[in-house]
Amino acid sequence: AQIEKAGYKHFMGKEIAEQPVVLADALRHYLPQTGLNMPEELDFSNIDRISLVACGTAFYACSVAKYWFESFARIPVEIDVASEFRYREPPLSERGMTIFVSQSGETADTLAALRYCHEKVAKTVAVVNVPTSSIAREVDIALPIMAGVEIGVASTKAFTAQLLVLAVMALKAGRDRDQLDGPDLACHCDTLRSLPGLMNTALALDAPIAELAEHLAEAQDILFLGRGPMYPLALEGALKLKEISYIHAEGYASGELKHGPIALIDRTVPVIVMAPFDRLFDKTVSNMQEVMARHGMVLLASDAKGLKAAQDGTWAQLQLPEIAEPFAPILYAVPAQLLAYHTAVAKGTDVDQPRNLAKSVTVE
Ligand code: G6P
Repeated sequence: AQIEKAGYKHFMGKEIAEQPVVLADALRHYLPQTGLNMPEELDFSNIDRISLVACGTAFYACSVAKYWFESFARIPVEIDVASEFRYREPPLSERGMTIFVSQSGETADTLAALRYCHEKVAKTVAVVNVPTSSIAREVDIALPIMAGVEIGVASTKAFTAQLLVLAVMALKAGRDRDQLDGPDLACHCDTLRSLPGLMNTALALDAPIAELAEHLAEAQDILFLGRGPMYPLALEGALKLKEISYIHAEGYASGELKHGPIALIDRTVPVIVMAPFDRLFDKTVSNMQEVMARHGMVLLASDAKGLKAAQDGTWAQLQLPEIAEPFAPILYAVPAQLLAYHTAVAKGTDVDQPRNLAKSVTVE
């Protein structure tokens, strides 16, 4: 069937708005009321190591998932971009699991990385959107993200759906390895189930973000900062923005600010801080103050408690609903995407077909 924009100006805008429905569908499948629904063969009990391999936005989904697998299941996890993994020919463990994440399931480097792993690890697993794709066909276990066709070159709904499936996998890993007790597991499941509702609330930031984007569109450089699992989200926020608005953007771990990017800060540099009120919040506030002391324009995205605790001095604030710490990146992806989207619209770039980029990179 022909996919229409359904009243949206761009496919990307439509795909951002679809996320509550996409996640609700994936939740119905992977996290029904009866508990985790994952294939029996996806067993983490005897796995000694996980490698997560992907390109682009899918790689940032892997980077977030590393935090989850390590904290819920206490398994050592390495993450790699597929083009590095395949040529580095890393030593692999026979008891290892390699997980490939790909929207299209056709990215040449990711497919080559998968072929390198055949027979070398205990299990190969794919988290893919296209169930008939090469990667889905060649792995031992393919988990569809069920996001529907994604047309915008810059990935949005596939990213959050990848995160959701990886989150459920990490919970399963925690349970298989007796690292997560019943109440903790139930609490994490409830948080994931609350995501479609929370995302709807986040989508209401569309108009205020469009207004901020008018200013962001004038910037030459934009920094994104985050800590913990919000650090890879900062990387994804910067990628999204540069892909479609052509503004130079970088994501940094908040704690690394002092080790370089602080040299760039002046009144012309917007610094977007993604920081829910969690156990690392105070540390992030002190990084923000370092930026403000150098007249950087701080845009703080946080929840009511965080915005209150941060006090004044920011250039702008975005209030997100509260969400339990580990899964905040899934929710905060929405404002990150909207910031990129509206900045590109303000600049008048081709949002759905940015220059030089392809939806799926099937050649090297
Ligand atoms: C291209 C697309 C990105 C995507 C990446 C990986 O660069 O423009 O949006 O994240 O490829 O694609 P895949 O289909 O493997 O997720």
